[in-house]
Amino acid sequence: MTKLIAVLPGDGIGQEIVAEAVKVLEVLKSDFGLDIEMENGLVGGTAYDATGTPLPDETMELCKRSDSILLGAVGGYKWESLDIAVRPEKGLLGLRAGLDLFANLRPAILYPQLASASTLNAEVVSGLDLMIVRELTGGIYFGQPRGVRTLENGEREGYNTLVYKESEVSRIAKVAFDIAMKRDKRVCSVDKANVLECTEMWREVMIEEAKGHPEIELSHMYVDNAAMQLVRAPKQFDVMVTTNMFGDILSDCAAMLTGSIGMLPSASLDANGKGMYEPIHGSAPDIAGQNIANPLATILSVSMMLRYSLDQSEMADKIDAAVNTVLDDGKRTADIYTDGDIKVSTSEMGDAVVAALKA
Ligand code: IPM
Ligand code: MG
Repeated sequence: MTKLIAVLPGDGIGQEIVAEAVKVLEVLKSDFGLDIEMENGLVGGTAYDATGTPLPDETMELCKRSDSILLGAVGGYKWESLDIAVRPEKGLLGLRAGLDLFANLRPAILYPQLASASTLNAEVVSGLDLMIVRELTGGIYFGQPRGVRTLENGEREGYNTLVYKESEVSRIAKVAFDIAMKRDKRVCSVDKANVLECTEMWREVMIEEAKGHPEIELSHMYVDNAAMQLVRAPKQFDVMVTTNMFGDILSDCAAMLTGSIGMLPSASLDANGKGMYEPIHGSAPDIAGQNIANPLATILSVSMMLRYSLDQSEMADKIDAAVNTVLDDGKRTADIYTDGDIKVSTSEMGDAVVAALKA
């Protein structure tokens, strides 16, 4: 049956990189028989400009009836002074919450061809293959109460709430354990149980949940130490599972181990495996419109979509192989370029992946 993919380019470089990922999907459709239709929707600042809201009802409705969602990025300088309720980021958070996409998978894999592009020593990062499982619809991002209030003395006070229900922790634990079962069977749960009661409970639920997964080796780490260990000895980790906010921070850190945040895809899944797929980098307004952004994270997000939501792992393998070929050929966008490489633009990189697919 034909699968419907909602395509939401969003803001900034989102437009350029999604265009390249769509080229890849078009080729899989025309040359390899992938049975899909694509339909575009608005989200983020571009949606706000067109409709007055970062997440129009039409977009939500499109995403609900789609089998899968491809998203570029949201945000930009232009919208930074808007009320927080209508900022582009609310569009993304609204999609995550509205579609119950609670499990965010952020793999950090070092392509051997890019070992020299990492700011860390090659021996620290070579062979890196780590999966961060970030809880995506709870925690301090969504906790109530939240806001800024004015105290009696006239001073303002800002507050957000870190809150998790046991059920939210156990379902993300299960996702992490299931993923680890297909890998090295090691899960490190990251918390701040020495200070925050909420994450002390997180740890207890992790331990409880692990009893049902006797083959999994579960360890625990405080988030500050985890940040340090990620840059000191990242290969010690197999799967890391953590809260929404800690996962946000640690996944940027892990991305940099691989040379560029421009290389990393992500999947955000609901309980039934329906997902939204997006690069983990943002909209990069500073380089938007220049055709220099790296489209590989978005192209690799399509690969994750085929694997996790559309049951097309062979097609996913084709994309992964094509990306490898392009890197073997020395083609690099500016973010992963080092002396001696062939510098290519966003669209040239997309074309190169398409050519490798067709070869
Ligand atoms: C991410 C981003 C988002 C987040 C922003 C854009 C709301 O940083 O996906 O990591 O904080 O989750
Ligand atoms: Mg982030």
